[in-house]
Amino acid sequence: MQIILGITGGIAAYKAAELARLLVNRGHRIRCVLTEAGARFITPLTLSSLTGEPCYGANPDQGEWRANPSIEHIELARWADLVAVVPATANILGKAANGLADDLLSTVLLATRAPVLWAPAMNTGMWEHPAVQANLVRLRSFGHAVVEPGEGALACGEEGSGKLAEVASIAEAIQAQGTPKLRSLRDRQVLITAGPTREDLDPVRILTNRSTGTMGIELARAFRDVGARVHLVLGGEAPAPWGVETTRVHSAQQMLEACLARWANSDGLVGAAAVADQRPERPSPEKVKKGEGPETLVLVRTPDILAQLSSVRRPDQWVLGFAAESEHHLEHAMAKLKKKGLDAVLVNDIQGGRGFGAQASTLTPLTAQGPHPPLGPQSKDQLARAVVQWWAQRLEVRPE
Ligand code: CTP
Repeated sequence: MQIILGITGGIAAYKAAELARLLVNRGHRIRCVLTEAGARFITPLTLSSLTGEPCYGANPDQGEWRANPSIEHIELARWADLVAVVPATANILGKAANGLADDLLSTVLLATRAPVLWAPAMNTGMWEHPAVQANLVRLRSFGHAVVEPGEGALACGEEGSGKLAEVASIAEAIQAQGTPKLRSLRDRQVLITAGPTREDLDPVRILTNRSTGTMGIELARAFRDVGARVHLVLGGEAPAPWGVETTRVHSAQQMLEACLARWANSDGLVGAAAVADQRPERPSPEKVKKGEGPETLVLVRTPDILAQLSSVRRPDQWVLGFAAESEHHLEHAMAKLKKKGLDAVLVNDIQGGRGFGAQASTLTPLTAQGPHPPLGPQSKDQLARAVVQWWAQRLEVRPE
């Protein structure tokens, strides 16, 4: 993407440098536009050095550091695939909400047709002021996205909301805002299970597996980016992605209950979790002592979440599952597809340690008609995007 990063006057302006670097590392082109106040907090030299692109100034006729004086606000506005303002002061929010344009950044914001994203940062009193909140409502009504500030110690010495959101979250929001939306998934509710489940043996011991949850989390991001409303039911410790409603669960039973609670309101389900297939028959409420415990651990089956949700689905709901196989991949996966009543299975070849925690993976989509061309090998974030594109295409032609 070609991104214009607007930087306005606030102490959090230094974090814009970190954001610019992160976005450049992810392959985006970044051109920074500093307001006059922004330029008091961070230098154009820092930004142009980090981005390898010129940094633009407050007024079209101002500033010796404008690398290309011939460029106009219209050209910049056209160049952008997305305009992000990080940090955004109450002042720039007010100007943009009311169509005022008296410097380069506010003019670009008015002239651009690209998506716009705001990451505000200010004193708590200013953030909570009805004028600022009303401006945000207005900006959202234009289709702009807002990455809400967090709470914490502010530079003004106060404690409260108004602290710039985490740089990583802003980068995710930029990715989401800049990704083209897919008709078959836009505003659709997608339920995703991810991560390992854990079954208690006693208060300190658990049965679990090596799943990192990465694939399910990347799928949640990929569905979010194309416009779906994602609800992630997540086991394990991995952090939840930005902009995805998440329910944390421990055991398979909890994962099932969290999914059942949302299934009726969902358009589709992706079962990416590595659900423990067994649990101890009688977990001990107290820590089991050496020598006192049973020699044999008696295990019973956990519920099959995918199969249970699939068995109660409406005809308009779709269900995708995963199959990790080390031999006879397609035969085993086809048996799972039929047994669990799935629309498609993404088959993962885990022979020789591939799969769990691997850097590059391959998935072969399988439907009742047979296997489709494999996706990958690629990193899990790219693979998740490929899965979403593949499935969205199938949804386009799927009878309702
Ligand atoms: N799954 C589930 N609930 C379970 C077990 C699995 O929802 N209790 C889902 C997984 O999220 C995945 C698919 O079912 O989408 C995998 O099916 P499973 O039959 O467990 O296959 P494998 O994990 O490949 O294991 P096995 O080959 O041992 O059956």
